[in-house]
Amino acid sequence: MASVEQFGAETSGTEVAGRFAKRIEGVLITGVSPNSLGESLATAIAAHSPSHLILASRTPAKLQAVAALIPHVNVSCVHVDFSSFPSVRAAASAITRLLHGRKIDVLFNNAGINVFSRQLNAEGIELQFATNHLGPFLFTNLLLPLLASGGRVVNTSSEAHRISPVRFSDLGQDPEKKEMLPPDEEPRRGMGEGILRGMGGYEPAVAYGQSKTANVLFAVGLNGRGVKSFAVMPGTIRTDIVRGLDEEGLQGLLRVEKWKDLDQGVATNLVAALDPALDGERGLYLDDCQLKRPSKWASDPEKAERLWRLSEELVGQKFDLGMKSRL
Ligand SMILES: NC(=O)c1ccc[n+]([C@@H]2O[C@H](COP(=O)([O-])OP(=O)(O)OC[C@H]3O[C@@H](n4cnc5c(N)ncnc54)[C@H](OP(=O)(O)O)[C@@H]3O)[C@@H](O)[C@H]2O)c1
Repeated sequence: MASVEQFGAETSGTEVAGRFAKRIEGVLITGVSPNSLGESLATAIAAHSPSHLILASRTPAKLQAVAALIPHVNVSCVHVDFSSFPSVRAAASAITRLLHGRKIDVLFNNAGINVFSRQLNAEGIELQFATNHLGPFLFTNLLLPLLASGGRVVNTSSEAHRISPVRFSDLGQDPEKKEMLPPDEEPRRGMGEGILRGMGGYEPAVAYGQSKTANVLFAVGLNGRGVKSFAVMPGTIRTDIVRGLDEEGLQGLLRVEKWKDLDQGVATNLVAALDPALDGERGLYLDDCQLKRPSKWASDPEKAERLWRLSEELVGQKFDLGMKSRL
């Protein structure tokens, strides 16, 4: 259980960072731009003088705009496009050089997209899976040697993970594919998938849900290898993630009952990153600042291993740390 029972849906990131300020040291945040959760994470962390703060994201001008808000902090900006494996490798090398042997205490894998048409990356992989899971998978594994002992990896997932499991037999919703999905790869109907049915049968919410399930399974895979990791539902926050959606689409997709502001939207990530009570916890997924049970399809260790192997294959590199080798 998280240490502060009172922390919940209304809690702000400012409050959580203040509570655990002594634990804020070397931090790396991905997905940073104005009006994003990455910005809010950066400002909450920056208020407590991290020993170093690295911000990694896609658009240099947006990164600089956020860095300008925290001039008092030792902040470095790194360009990375998570849909591109060469870009991820270059960013991991740049960060390794930047750190000069210093360690990362918390890695926030927070960058993410939600697109509404079927797009592929340079390797022909569906864009949401490539950007939201494979890029961060490669990035994290390349940087693991720089993670401090006891350091944490926090993946920003979503309750949208309940829409779809990882579809191992049809990751990219291939329009040519004729075979039926196995029953355990079928999405859960009645959530966002129908409303956002895209062109040519592509279901963007299923693709997004799959990628957010992968974020949780990646945390399972890391924990199994002795790297402390959590996946987080940040809440529903009006950031740029919803670009392209009108109000009707938004309401339908997320069945929004309660919105969080940007500061409240990072409270759960910060509990996952900093709360000392979670050091000995076997929990995996947090929502509203407390541990919660994710879908079975997102916590199954066999599926986590299958995803790990598939991800290695797709990024073209093996990362066998040896189960529990870092404990
Ligand atoms: N907002 C919500 O209600 C909500 C709910 C559940 C989960 N989430 C998750 O929260 C995370 C943060 O999202 P947000 O709400 O803050 O959305 P956002 O405002 O769109 O921020 C996403 C960030 O990721 C960056 N990014 C996107 N594609 C990238 C790429 N290929 N390479 C590198 N960086 C990339 C964006 O950079 P550019 O702006 O430069 O493109 C932006 O800084 C995402 O993982 C999202 O799935 C959000």
